Amino acid sequence: MANQNLDSTYWNSRYIEENTPWDIGYPSPALVNYLHSHAKPGTKILIPGAGNAYEASWLIENKQGFELTIVDLSIDLVEKLQRKFEQFPNIKVICLDFFELEGTYDLILEQTFFCAIDPALRNNYLAKMKSLLSPKGKLAGLLFNVEFVKAGPPFGGNSKEYITSFNQYFTEYFIDYYPDSIPQRSGNEIFFEISQAEK
Ligand SMILES: C[S@@+](CC[C@H](N)C(=O)[O-])C[C@H]1O[C@@H](n2cnc3c(N)ncnc32)[C@H](O)[C@@H]1O
Repeated sequence: MANQNLDSTYWNSRYIEENTPWDIGYPSPALVNYLHSHAKPGTKILIPGAGNAYEASWLIENKQGFELTIVDLSIDLVEKLQRKFEQFPNIKVICLDFFELEGTYDLILEQTFFCAIDPALRNNYLAKMKSLLSPKGKLAGLLFNVEFVKAGPPFGGNSKEYITSFNQYFTEYFIDYYPDSIPQRSGNEIFFEISQAEK
């Protein structure tokens, strides 16, 4: 359980103070690898708790015909990204609590958003994801497979507990140790993909 209010004020001040150790500064190699084969013309992509969403720039340079929605709670960050992507009508940047988001998406990307929310809300996260996935939609990305010594965020976890939670909402998923993490997360990540529908 989080002992501080992880609200928009908290997250916005982290960006104002440039206290953003999670920000790797470039598109996530694991997500890029996934997008290579999954971002197709017409794919509606969502990145919630997106931070600087470097993957958006990768998509612009490498893919066509996608629709991307970027959601984050930090108003300063969102305004910066709105300016950055203003000439791309297929990219929407929204300042909103993920739990209030509506609509459906074919592909939802996860990277250090799950670990940023209060662990007491993890089942709410999965329930919300289920409601946001289109009938054949997929949620994919990285999760930490480590317990952190310092109080979060980030909040850690392990595959076993994630699987227990996944089983409450989904029947079709893949989850495994991820061997190609960036150096600072090496050995501590798993890659997962959840499918809304059974194959
Ligand atoms: C640890 S950062 C990760 C950012 C990004 N995914 C990355 O990998 O760089 C968590 C992000 O989630 C955002 N966030 C936290 N709670 C949120 C919520 N309930 N709805 C939307 N965004 C949220 C924060 O503002 C922050 O940008």
